[in-house]
Amino acid sequence: MLILKSNDIKSSEITDYDVYQDRRRFMKNAAGIGIAGVSGLPIVEALAKGTASPYSTSEKPTEYEAITEYCNFYEFGTGKSDPAKNAHSLVTSPWNVVVEGECEKPGKYSLEDLLKPMNIEERVYRFRCVEGWSMVIPWMGFQLSDLIKRMQPTSKAKYVYFETLLDPEHMPGQKRAVLDWPYVEGLRMDEAMNPLTLMGTGIYGKDLLNQNGAPLRLVVPWKYGFKSIKSIARIRFLETQPVNSWQKANKHEYGFFSNVNPNVSHPRWSQRKERRIGQFRKIKTQMFNGYGEQVASLYSGMDLKKYF
Ligand code: MTE
Repeated sequence: MLILKSNDIKSSEITDYDVYQDRRRFMKNAAGIGIAGVSGLPIVEALAKGTASPYSTSEKPTEYEAITEYCNFYEFGTGKSDPAKNAHSLVTSPWNVVVEGECEKPGKYSLEDLLKPMNIEERVYRFRCVEGWSMVIPWMGFQLSDLIKRMQPTSKAKYVYFETLLDPEHMPGQKRAVLDWPYVEGLRMDEAMNPLTLMGTGIYGKDLLNQNGAPLRLVVPWKYGFKSIKSIARIRFLETQPVNSWQKANKHEYGFFSNVNPNVSHPRWSQRKERRIGQFRKIKTQMFNGYGEQVASLYSGMDLKKYF
């Protein structure tokens, strides 16, 4: 698998995880002696607070360079290196998120308002794409459940629907009918409320780059990567199950649940194995991407061949 090197990123900015951890320890100590915030990054505060999350895997994270250069973000092209090349045109500030539907606190929230009360922490998660590659990503983010509680869904709210910004001028891929724009996704309420489900705001302690879905994206580690919708501009509480972008494109190949499942093949390829980006040998794909202990009960009694 080819990973292209962008000329835009200086080698000094490419963070190896060990170097990153050293920096993280430094920040924690710095916070202890009262110099947190010197860099002006809000992330420093979050890192300073944090110890390793019990939800984090101890597997070695994929290099920052690969995570930020090998991307799927069809709004900027269908090639893996297109988003890193083209996503600079996305305008992420100011950013608003419209919250609507079955909830007591609908409205247009600025990103700042939305993030202010949230507890941003680091979680190192496995991330498995339906295409057969995978990564380990140190995300920064907050639990989606905290945002949902704040919006006070009504008893009718059974699903949460997400929409990416619609802005063909700054997302040139939206000028081509590759998908039915805007990109949309959905989760059942119990999936959305599961503590593993994050709203991602950063990677490796840095704010998200545009190509990874700045300023706010979903991260659902037990589902194929396409459920993790990027650059979210609208959240809607729904009574009925929404249809996601990939279902709209091909409902025989992509379902609503899209749980990582080595026993259910994609119609055109097996899902039994995956290639970790940066490693040569393929490894076995785990049921629910290895998060079964936390999420298998959400699907008890469901035929996962039917509800793929
Ligand atoms: N979100 C939007 N808006 N547009 C996309 O094309 N691609 C999805 C998902 N979220 C996509 C998206 C797919 S197919 C994958 S595998 C992941 O984003 C990739 O995330 P990454 O590029 O940050 O690794």
